[in-house]
Amino acid sequence: MAKPKILATRPLFPAARAILDAHFDVEYWTVPERISRAELLKRVADKEALVCLLTEKVDQQLLDAAPRLRIAATVSVGFDNIDVPACTRRGVAATHTPGVLDETTADFAWTLLMAIGRRLLEGDAWMRSGTWPGWDLDQLLGGDVWGKTLGILGFGRIGRGVARRALGFRMRVLYSDAVRAPSEDERDLHAEFVDRDRLFRESDFISIHVPLLPDTRHLISKENLEKMKPTAYLINTSRGPVVDEAALVDALENRKIAGAALDVYENEPKVHPGLIPRKDVILAPHMASASVDTRTRMAVMAANNVVAMFDGRRPPNALNADALELK
Ligand code: GLV
Repeated sequence: MAKPKILATRPLFPAARAILDAHFDVEYWTVPERISRAELLKRVADKEALVCLLTEKVDQQLLDAAPRLRIAATVSVGFDNIDVPACTRRGVAATHTPGVLDETTADFAWTLLMAIGRRLLEGDAWMRSGTWPGWDLDQLLGGDVWGKTLGILGFGRIGRGVARRALGFRMRVLYSDAVRAPSEDERDLHAEFVDRDRLFRESDFISIHVPLLPDTRHLISKENLEKMKPTAYLINTSRGPVVDEAALVDALENRKIAGAALDVYENEPKVHPGLIPRKDVILAPHMASASVDTRTRMAVMAANNVVAMFDGRRPPNALNADALELK
């Protein structure tokens, strides 16, 4: 019997390819430039599954272009690229990759936190410029990390991973979330549940770990930035539109906060031009989960979801399994 035809918008990694190739007739997009929308719509037309990235939108238009599609598997934990209700209406399963990138992402939030607090990139640029005159008492004075207050917006798996790392730095941890964590977690992580207002006002570092939802879009607004301490830093490894970038530029320019370290942007791959020349900003290219092991795990997870679907099993990471009544 002919294998089902599927499209993967990247070559993925050997471990994921081995899984897919064993079950499917897979078309991989192998061109270094990412697949264009037109090409994606064309190539998905005769496919029964799509393994895609967070940069590819699975929306009504794509679903209309793919009448045979049964599953769309994004190789990302965030799934704001997928119109899940539209998939459900069409009977298409939508899956993502939760759980496998939490620790790697938490590591990177900390990488940004320490680098912005201690001005590492400014120091690196100075050394490379050949103009460093040698040690001096008042060079590159930053903010301490140890013993300070860390505010975590969104206390899911990644937020908790960030909190756990703060224990070693003897930080005070505040968190806000729609749901309060179990008291054992609060105790183990020395984390205090507070409202957002207090978190903005009291934190020395604020790290964002909320998904992008209507309620979290521009959560970092002019109003909330104004509540922050002038010595505080903002770290974002979640989704760009959670931060109002124009308001952030304004807050930095007016020294309402001390700095920001960003891995994600409102209009990726564009960056607000006001952020680019700033020394009090670190700009990373959406790389928080980018370790060899983690990205491989993500691709394998996406592949296994597709395999489950065609095996007649419930894809383990389906976002609409109940709505589709998948067994
Ligand atoms: C990365 O941003 C992801 O959602 O996996």
